[in-house]
Amino acid sequence: MRIITLNEFIIERQADFPYAKGELTRLLSHIGIAAKVVNRAVNKAGLVDILGEIQEFNSTGEQQKKLDVFANEKFINALMASGECCGIASEENDSIVSFDSDLVNDGKYVVAMDPLDGSSNIDVNVSIGTVFAIYRRVSPKGHKALMEDFLQEGTKQVAAGYIIYGSSTMMVYTTGRGVNGFTLDPSIGEFCLSHPNIEMPQSGIIYSINEGNYLKFPLGVKKYIKYCQEIDKQTNRPYTFRYIGSLVADFHRNLLKGGIYIYPETASNPKGKLRLLYECNPIAFLAEQAGGIATDGRANRILDIKPESLHQKAPFFVGSRRMVMQAEEFMSLTSDKREAEAPRNT
Ligand code: AHG
Ligand code: MN
Ligand code: MN
Repeated sequence: MRIITLNEFIIERQADFPYAKGELTRLLSHIGIAAKVVNRAVNKAGLVDILGEIQEFNSTGEQQKKLDVFANEKFINALMASGECCGIASEENDSIVSFDSDLVNDGKYVVAMDPLDGSSNIDVNVSIGTVFAIYRRVSPKGHKALMEDFLQEGTKQVAAGYIIYGSSTMMVYTTGRGVNGFTLDPSIGEFCLSHPNIEMPQSGIIYSINEGNYLKFPLGVKKYIKYCQEIDKQTNRPYTFRYIGSLVADFHRNLLKGGIYIYPETASNPKGKLRLLYECNPIAFLAEQAGGIATDGRANRILDIKPESLHQKAPFFVGSRRMVMQAEEFMSLTSDKREAEAPRNT
């Protein structure tokens, strides 16, 4: 079988967009390059203690940097170098980063990203990821990027994807024409097409939610969890529970096998935990492109939410179409919108 590298594939697909001039192609290629650099650092993360500061961690002669800060810098540098991206919103930066140089001010794209997702898993050698969403800027070219370029609905995404640093490293992305996955072959240092046209099963048997927060969940979620645990041969229940604690890894598994991921609202966090711009939106775009759906658990499509601030959160229900719709039904049947934070100790 002929090997198709990520770059070959991106260039081939440029023809899907008759007016494309190669800008998005260049941008995606640069994301692929940064992914390889970050992958190398992730692979060496466990060696930090015995080897001291790893070179890349120490480029400025400072103390060892946290891997998420390192990943942030690498992705920002790569996107800036592409010349096609005029600014970035990142989990690691309080405000937007506008590049503001003559070269990049002409870039017509902005990128929102979580450079390292699932960072609590780094120290224990468990899968982590990078998530990105690409938008066409709405402010005029030739000037620096503005906040309004980032506060666009998820439906406006031009492309989105993630890199998963797992038992192998993969990049999965969409430009709105289906979802394709590429596995990094370390022997040649290239991402190779391994999962063409990924389609998410319409239903599955996996549910992923942090059940440690059970007492804080809305009643509809509690009832849905009980539904998942009930025995019913016809619907393949009880379902299997799997939760890694890296959205990228949990979603990736459910994307391939079928399943649902939920991070709901709680009384103390009425918008949940996940960030709309660079966690929910790109994952929702991928889910929809693969035949799944993503909502906030209150019958609102994630991609339709108009963002009001950069780091805004949203409750997140994503995965196989029939499973998310079932969870939505449980949410709509419960009259009390949200249960009390936790039962009082009496
Ligand atoms: P990050 O590491 O970028 O801060 O994101 C962690 C997120 C997400 O990846 C994961 O699904 C979720 O937080 C896990 O949260 P809990 O530990 O509350 O379950
Ligand atoms: Mn994250
Ligand atoms: Mn992060």
